[in-house]
Amino acid sequence: MTLSIHSAGREFAGEVRDIDLRRPMSQADVAAIEAGMDCYAVLIFRDQPISDDQQMTFTKNFGRIENAQGGTITKDDEYRLKDGMIDVSNLDKNGQPLDRNDRRRMFNLGNRLWHSDSSYRAVPAKYSLLSGRVVAAQGGNTEFADMRAAYDALEPQMRAVVEDLICEHSLIYSRGSMGFTELTEAERAMFKPVRQRLVRTHPVTGRKSLFLSSHIGAIVGWPIPEARDLIRDLIEHATQREFVYAHTWRQHDLVIWDNRQTMHRVRRFDESQPRDMRRTTVAGDRMTVEQTAAGQ
Ligand SMILES: [Fe+2]
Repeated sequence: MTLSIHSAGREFAGEVRDIDLRRPMSQADVAAIEAGMDCYAVLIFRDQPISDDQQMTFTKNFGRIENAQGGTITKDDEYRLKDGMIDVSNLDKNGQPLDRNDRRRMFNLGNRLWHSDSSYRAVPAKYSLLSGRVVAAQGGNTEFADMRAAYDALEPQMRAVVEDLICEHSLIYSRGSMGFTELTEAERAMFKPVRQRLVRTHPVTGRKSLFLSSHIGAIVGWPIPEARDLIRDLIEHATQREFVYAHTWRQHDLVIWDNRQTMHRVRRFDESQPRDMRRTTVAGDRMTVEQTAAGQ
C-alpha cells in the first residue's frame, strides 16, 4: 500500500497514513514524505511503536543526524538515551521525574517558549522527529506556528523592515528570558551566539518565512531594547491562533516538523508523572548567513 497524506485540521499540518515506520522505506516513500514536508511543514504519523534504533534509521532517510553537543547542560554521565537520541522527557537517568529545582529541569522549561530547534547553531536544523513513548495524561500539547503564513501576512512596510535583518541566537538569551542565568563559564562559551537571517527562503519551494525563535537576543546594528521589542512583536504576530496547530499527543505518535518553516513550543503538564518524548534531529546543510571570524 502506498502512503497517503491528509489534512490534520490546519493547512500546514498533515497526517500520514498507510505506513509502518519500523520497516525500511522505499525511495518513493521517502520522496513522498519530503514532498509532504515541503507542502505542509508538520506531518503526523499515528500508532508508530518504534524503538530508538528504528527512529534513527528512519531519520537518516532525510539527512545526517545532528550532533547534539552544545545544546544542553546535561552532562554526559547523566544522559538517559544513546548517542543520536535527544531526550525531551522530564526524566533522569533512572527514569524518575526530575526534581522541581533540578537545574536540568529549569533549563528544559525553555522548551515552553516558542522556538525553532537548533537556531542557536551556525547551521540550524532541518527536521525534528519527536516520538511520544509515554505521553502526558493531560496537557503537554506541542504547538506549531507556520512561519511562511506569518511572513505572508506581514504589512509591506514591516516586510521592508525585516527583509535583511540579521539576528543573534543563543540558549543564553532564551534561558535568560526565563530568569535562568546561572551558567558556568564553560556553558557560556558553548552557548556563544550565532547569526541568522530573520527572513529565510526555503531551498525547495522558494517560499519566504520568518526565522523567529526565543533564542534571539539581539539584532546586528540595533540597540538591544529596540531589537527585543521588534522580536516580541513579530513572535506575537506569528503565533496568532490562525497560524497555529496544537498537537494533542497519543502514545506512539511520531511528529516531524521542518524547523526552517515553523516554530513550536510545549505546553504545561503534570511533571510528577513521566512524560517520555524522544527526538531525533536532521542536520541542516547550510548557514542562513556567514558568521564573523569570532564565530558571531
Ligand atoms: Fe524544540
